[in-house]
Amino acid sequence: MNQAAPFIGKGILHTPICDLLGCRYPIVQTAMGWVADARLVAATSNAGGFGFLAAATITADQLEAEILKLKSLTERPFGINFHMFQPNAQQVIDLTIKHGLRAVSYGRGPDAKTIARFKQAGVLCMPTVGALKHAQKAVELGADIITVQGAEGGGHTGSVPTTLLLPQVLDAVKVPVVAAGGFYNGRGLAGALAFGAAGIAMGTRFLMTAESPVPRATLQKYLEAKDPSRIRASTAVDGMPQRMIDNPYLLRLESGGLLHRLAVALGSAWRWRAHTGMSIAQMLRTAVKALGEGDSAIQTLMAANAPVLIQRAMVEGRPDEGVLPSGQVAANIDSLPTVAELIAAIADAAEARLRAVSAAALHTETAV
Ligand SMILES: Cc1cc2nc3c(=O)[nH]c(=O)nc-3n(C[C@H](O)[C@H](O)[C@H](O)COP(=O)(O)O)c2cc1C
Repeated sequence: MNQAAPFIGKGILHTPICDLLGCRYPIVQTAMGWVADARLVAATSNAGGFGFLAAATITADQLEAEILKLKSLTERPFGINFHMFQPNAQQVIDLTIKHGLRAVSYGRGPDAKTIARFKQAGVLCMPTVGALKHAQKAVELGADIITVQGAEGGGHTGSVPTTLLLPQVLDAVKVPVVAAGGFYNGRGLAGALAFGAAGIAMGTRFLMTAESPVPRATLQKYLEAKDPSRIRASTAVDGMPQRMIDNPYLLRLESGGLLHRLAVALGSAWRWRAHTGMSIAQMLRTAVKALGEGDSAIQTLMAANAPVLIQRAMVEGRPDEGVLPSGQVAANIDSLPTVAELIAAIADAAEARLRAVSAAALHTETAV
């Protein structure tokens, strides 16, 4: 377990997740593939938040080195994010326990046996859900904290907005609930706490910081996105709804016919073959099937689109030749502060907002 002295002083923002996760503020930096690296996570945990390392996109031979790097950058607790269908899922589980990480987050999650193993090792299970029934199922399986991601959130996302999903889940489960999807400032944190949430989790806001590894040319596209309706969910990349900034590349993917989609998917499967394990013969068989059956068979190949097209933008800095996963909240963000500045500003503003609301309530009470 990462050992560090607990933060002293329990202020108005202190919630159960601060004790569980060992952070000063109830502010979580969620995992983002190729974005939530050791540096970003360490910056978050050092500034009093709680960061998750995105392990689903780190190669098996790099994973332990990245965890060790993170441990060298912070003494504060942090977590790791993965999904059970990644090829090295077992390695992530073993390294999480070996290195005593504080928490795991996941979407399509581990089974009850694996969750029991985490819990026995003192690792908190903190799945992200986009629907009420998934929250209930996750708690049944043993989740300690639930992150609720409303439809406006970035990356793969559901269809229910945060303002509806959050109260549904709060009413249905007894574990602490963290609100995600659309948060970026102190008002949001104060609002989430007023709903009854135990904190907020943010992806896009952390992507748009000074410590973000995303190249400047790509960050510029996020800064320029000013219309939330143009940060929209599309199934064109890998067949599952994923929220992205509208760009000409996405439009081409959506408007292209079967042959175009097949060509893009084949190109991605070829580039990503080391990870998908797909042989040339399998690719060709799937391609022939796709030409006969249409979209359902292309889906298999499309799984490789997301990593290839996201990397082009987020790692190689070629935003016009790839896709830009983002929450709608990018439209409200016009700066790239350091993580420490961001967390301090959110905490200060949330505290001021909560105090202003209670002062106003007190004033109303005494006036009546
Ligand atoms: C660029 C990007 C990559 C993401 N990658 C992952 C991922 O690898 N695993 C995951 O569970 N969620 C991923 N997400 C979702 C975020 O972890 C988070 O739940 C979401 O961004 C919250 O909504 P917000 O962007 O409005 O803050 C990603 C989101 C973005 C914007």
